[in-house]
Amino acid sequence: MEASTVAVVTGASRGLGQALAGRLLASGAHVITIARSQNTELTDLARQHGARLQQIQADLSQAATIESAAGMLSAALPQGATRYLLLNNAGTVDPVSLADGLFDAAAIERAFNLNVNAVMVLSAAFLRSTSADADRRILNVSSGAGRKPTRGWGVYCATKAALDHYTAVLADEHPDLRIAALAPGVIDTAMQERIRSSERGQFPDLERFVNLHESGQLASPDAVAAKILRHLLSDAYGHELLDDIRNYD
Ligand SMILES: NC(=O)c1ccc[n+]([C@@H]2O[C@H](COP(=O)([O-])OP(=O)(O)OC[C@H]3O[C@@H](n4cnc5c(N)ncnc54)[C@H](OP(=O)(O)O)[C@@H]3O)[C@@H](O)[C@H]2O)c1
Repeated sequence: MEASTVAVVTGASRGLGQALAGRLLASGAHVITIARSQNTELTDLARQHGARLQQIQADLSQAATIESAAGMLSAALPQGATRYLLLNNAGTVDPVSLADGLFDAAAIERAFNLNVNAVMVLSAAFLRSTSADADRRILNVSSGAGRKPTRGWGVYCATKAALDHYTAVLADEHPDLRIAALAPGVIDTAMQERIRSSERGQFPDLERFVNLHESGQLASPDAVAAKILRHLLSDAYGHELLDDIRNYD
């Protein structure tokens, strides 16, 4: 990839997002990230590869800051690139609770803001600020949890199911776009640490995730990022709307 590829990656300060942004920078793409914190390893990588990096700091769990982040994104997106990528990766599994304990409406709102609403507003900014003549691709990082009910994850499952269905609407409205909602598999990130720290009473599947970790079955963020980018840049990308990266080599 060369500098005429511009890639936007949300949640690039750690985990899967950092690995995706790092690989994009190493390929020479111009990368714009959005998260609450900046990542100095990405700054170093950009310098090392002579790639352009802009890190926008924004809390995507609040409506007002989603809107200002979208404004900053529109201003940062350069004109004239041949390819534009939007990787909606930032996400949270919180609040983890059985349905009869979901009283904290503000916590539920923050989860929907981050996992769903920010994706919609940033996608709007991306669509309005880039030319339909370019090769435009959107990747919404979903989860198996959006497709299979998981006890204790009422909020997380609902946000990812909403993300999947929004992706289908976007694809319908924009046949020119290549787009998919992609489940990335189980990855060794801070999100998995958070899952393992869940209260057993609120998350009955806890043991399964502890076992996956103890038996070394979590994929590395870099290996998953490599597979995702290979698929995202391939001709097959977008043929399957609701997809799972484990379907690919
Ligand atoms: N890990 C897995 O096993 C797994 C499985 C299925 C799906 N996924 C999905 O994969 C994606 C990445 O997950 P991950 O495991 O890499 O998670 P992670 O390690 O917890 O990283 C989450 C990223 O999202 C950003 N983020 C969190 N809250 C934010 C906020 N309020 N505003 C802006 N950015 C925020 C974080 O940056 P800051 O904290 O700096 O803001 C961080 O960069 C998520 O959509 C997740 O649902 C993960």
